[in-house]
Amino acid sequence: MKQDFNAGFWQQRYQNDQTGWDVGGITPPLQEYFDQMPNKHLRILIPGCGNAYEAEYLHHNRFTQVYLVDVAPEPLQNFAQRVPDFPKARLLQQDYFELQDQYDLIVEQTFFCALHPDLRAAYARKTAQLLKPGGKLMGLLFDTTFSQPGPPFGGNSEEYRAYFAPYFEFIHFGKSRNSIKPRQGRELFIILQKRADAEV
Ligand SMILES: C[S@@+](CC[C@H](N)C(=O)[O-])C[C@H]1O[C@@H](n2cnc3c(N)ncnc32)[C@H](O)[C@@H]1O
Repeated sequence: MKQDFNAGFWQQRYQNDQTGWDVGGITPPLQEYFDQMPNKHLRILIPGCGNAYEAEYLHHNRFTQVYLVDVAPEPLQNFAQRVPDFPKARLLQQDYFELQDQYDLIVEQTFFCALHPDLRAAYARKTAQLLKPGGKLMGLLFDTTFSQPGPPFGGNSEEYRAYFAPYFEFIHFGKSRNSIKPRQGRELFIILQKRADAEV
């Protein structure tokens, strides 16, 4: 994996309970988006999924094609215990950048900010590669800087737009209006659609 923050780094964070990003449930922006999705058979990928409360929500709301990926084994094991009837074959312990399949929707929440900023352009390209034509990236990006060294790594709308512009139409890219309290005013809600002419 081309980053300092490898599987061992993240696994240790879970083992030491240093998981400040884990909010313990699905967040309102993601829930609201899922609640208006009529097609429950879309292939949905949640990368850097951690404890994946969104996947639990989707599964309980009868979405049938949800895939999780994380480099660290612990959160996937936690998830398997918490949601025992979720198909194990869709829990992928892998590096996002090595995935090959294609999806209709990729869900972003505190995965982008966990990657070293040097990987941001590669994230945008990889995400486009993993989406079917017309597929979407939906989720949240931090719109703030952090005083401590990352992860999380912050940034702003202008910087992010430059990474995504080569591959995506910007359906929505603005301040999130229903973030959880500690993140209010500090998150962007994004819906990006893979462009038909995207060269990935
Ligand atoms: C900050 S946590 C966020 C977890 C989850 N999205 C949440 O909101 O609770 C970042 C997650 O990304 C995972 N991760 C980091 N680099 C990864 C990579 N290259 N491929 C897949 N997962 C990765 C880590 O193991 C960790 O679970």
